[in-house]
Amino acid sequence: MEYRLAKLEDTKDIYEIVQNTIRRIYPKYYLPEIVDMFCEFHNKENIGEDIENGNVYVLLENNKIIGTGSRKENHITRVYVLPDFQGKGFGTFIMNRLEAEIGKRYDKAEIDASLSACKLYYDRGYKTIDHGIWECAGGVIQIYEIMEKRLSKIGDERSGLRLRPYKACDAKTIVGWIHDEVSLRQWSADRYGSYPVTEEDMNKKYMDCNGDCFNTDDFYPVTAFDESGVVGHLIMRFTDEEKQVLRFGFVIVDDTKRGRGYGKQMLLLAIKYAFEILKVAKITLGVFENNKAAYYCYKAAGFKEIASEKEEYYNILGQKWKCIEMERPWNR
Ligand SMILES: CC(C)(COP(=O)(O)OP(=O)(O)OC[C@H]1O[C@@H](n2cnc3c(N)ncnc32)[C@H](O)[C@@H]1OP(=O)(O)O)[C@@H](O)C(=O)NCCC(=O)NCCS
Repeated sequence: MEYRLAKLEDTKDIYEIVQNTIRRIYPKYYLPEIVDMFCEFHNKENIGEDIENGNVYVLLENNKIIGTGSRKENHITRVYVLPDFQGKGFGTFIMNRLEAEIGKRYDKAEIDASLSACKLYYDRGYKTIDHGIWECAGGVIQIYEIMEKRLSKIGDERSGLRLRPYKACDAKTIVGWIHDEVSLRQWSADRYGSYPVTEEDMNKKYMDCNGDCFNTDDFYPVTAFDESGVVGHLIMRFTDEEKQVLRFGFVIVDDTKRGRGYGKQMLLLAIKYAFEILKVAKITLGVFENNKAAYYCYKAAGFKEIASEKEEYYNILGQKWKCIEMERPWNR
């Protein structure tokens, strides 16, 4: 899955996603005149103009655009996911990203809610603050809800996100975030046996096997939490005797909270701990090329890809997965 700013050449794909979704879903909720009006409103010119203004994002699965979302300042617009991809968390991911982006500069997000989505927005914490009126062809009237949500400040100093040492009782929550074998392998490569990983597997690896590290004091598993409970996890381990190089691994965020800045914030806390408390010179990690969310999250936390003489591949699920080596040196 990849999420990025839309380019002008994406206009046609975005247009088709929006039109297909409206034509398939909206007739269940609206009169034909209103459906036509939605289609006309999201014409190619309007989409192209929004792309040029840097307001439009796209979500790709296997290099195909399957969803889109836009924002103008703190106003979220045009969030659509292809009908065949709905109900799989993609819409939630787009909303999380748009809210995270808006949350950098505003304390609330606004949205004009269509009938098909207003319950979803309500469940995300949006409240109706007013109603808008739109007159369509033939005098047909559409009333829509204007909703807003106060945004929490993940990603800034006031964020309630904190790190603490991992406890055995965290395992149950963490393994519950992994729902298929591809995700398991992206997270842990070949470090665990078969799917699914159980809390006993995890605690055996951490408590009995010291995270597969030789020296007892080489291994630091940590858990990220906020007022809602455990939201993330990663391990840190020394890879050299001088304890100058720390390697991050098993980085994971609650699957219902991804794309909202938790991963980056958790990494920034771990980086702070590594440089300021453990006093290491460098942090390293490896990420699979097919794991775009993790790759971009590491980049956002200041990691850089490093060129290695030999490319590293893993045989996973009958395929060759390329592993990218990244590092973050100490800098003030
Ligand atoms: C990898 C993971 C920890 C990232 O956490 P997250 O909370 O979803 O990421 P964030 O919301 O903090 O995103 C941080 C940055 O990455 C970018 N990003 C996140 N997902 C992205 C995606 N799918 N495509 C492009 N960029 C993405 C965000 O835009 C953000 O950048 P910004 O700060 O410049 O806006 C999380 O996706 C996860 O738990 N994945 C499953 C486990 C896994 O595979 N771990 C990796 C092991 S190597």
